[in-house]
Amino acid sequence: MVVEPRVKDFICTTAHPVGCAQNVKNQIEYVKSKGAVKSDNAPKKVLVIGASTGYGLASRIAVAFGYGADTLGVMFEKESNGRRTATAGFYNNRAFEEEAHKAGLYAKSINGDAFSVEIKEQVIETIKADMGKIDMIVYSLAAPRRTTPDGTKYTSVLKTVGEEYTNKTLVLKDNTITDAHITAANDDEINATIKVMGGEDWIDWMQALSDARVLADNVITVAYSYIGPKITFPIYAEGSIGQAKKDLYKSADIINEKFPNIKAKIAINKALVTQSSAAIPIVPLYITLLYKVMKEKGLHEGCIEQMQRLFMDKILDDTQVDDNGFIRMDDWEMRDDVQEVVAEHWDTVNNDNVKDIADIDGYWEDFYNMFGFKIDGVDYSADVDIM
Ligand code: NAI
Repeated sequence: MVVEPRVKDFICTTAHPVGCAQNVKNQIEYVKSKGAVKSDNAPKKVLVIGASTGYGLASRIAVAFGYGADTLGVMFEKESNGRRTATAGFYNNRAFEEEAHKAGLYAKSINGDAFSVEIKEQVIETIKADMGKIDMIVYSLAAPRRTTPDGTKYTSVLKTVGEEYTNKTLVLKDNTITDAHITAANDDEINATIKVMGGEDWIDWMQALSDARVLADNVITVAYSYIGPKITFPIYAEGSIGQAKKDLYKSADIINEKFPNIKAKIAINKALVTQSSAAIPIVPLYITLLYKVMKEKGLHEGCIEQMQRLFMDKILDDTQVDDNGFIRMDDWEMRDDVQEVVAEHWDTVNNDNVKDIADIDGYWEDFYNMFGFKIDGVDYSADVDIM
């Protein structure tokens, strides 16, 4: 089948198997080009929860090809039924496993709901059978809903807290600027968002792994968050998702207190185009303005550059944190000289100048690349096996 992109709102409903594989290979090459980690205490057996796309996939590639680590991945992806393509994460994951095996690394993946008790048990059985003990856990889930162990279903929302909020946004279907009006979440919605994107499940994972005695004596676990500039505060840091992230920070403290052998860390990552961030109102416009400035200054990074830097330069060094104990991977994004220009452009951006001051092309390139399209060296006119 010849596979073409089919874009609907902020998602592409098709994915290209060869393009996704090439994308993964490019990320692996990047990590290899930067060299292996020098530290003797680099983790060697890593569990990545949310391993198939975005920051989780990049984390897995960084630890596998930077530390030489064996990896077990957990993801929630759809296989192809022969008529529709699989999801991008499915193809990414398969390509990752193939490349890891070629490099002599253990790599297995479990496709299912990471929030469930069953998948936790399956992971533990796999660790016991294949890995013995693990020494790092990356928690990189971005999910719209969660069923808790008692069977209750929660759906997260991307809303403000308190006041409603109106600001500019980029209409992705025609690249125009319009106003986005974001309503305020009610208490139930805030609680549900905390249930889905907060830290409760992260703690559950640590408890389950600890109870099963599959953790090494010194374990690092890391979860990701975003802070960003004032423009995005109402929808992100101070919005419903921000409340969930505050819960994630508290959860890191709980893990650190409860499990003496686990060091729980929070990395604040850069705003990037991923399947999750594309769904947040206002954020895509901010990202296009940010990309433009960071590219001009030679500071731009994608998921793999961020994660290579996190795992090779920062996470093993406990001194590389801010006053809150967070690892700041948004250090370049938040530089004053970057944010000043972005804020100025935010005030002036309109339909006439958006193409000049916002990196719309860069946004769309990242977007298509996520689904395996528009990747250099891939023949998109060729028939491909979508299974
Ligand atoms: P993503 O959508 O690319 O990746 C999400 C991953 O979670 C995928 O591997 C998916 O298969 C997996 N997943 C989702 N639901 C699952 C479930 N129920 N069971 C098992 N696996 C499941 O998202 P992205 O952007 O990489 O986000 C990862 C983390 O990074 C999130 O905590 C997010 O808040 C954070 N982050 C993202 C930023 C961005 O700009 N994209 C910036 C800073 C932090």
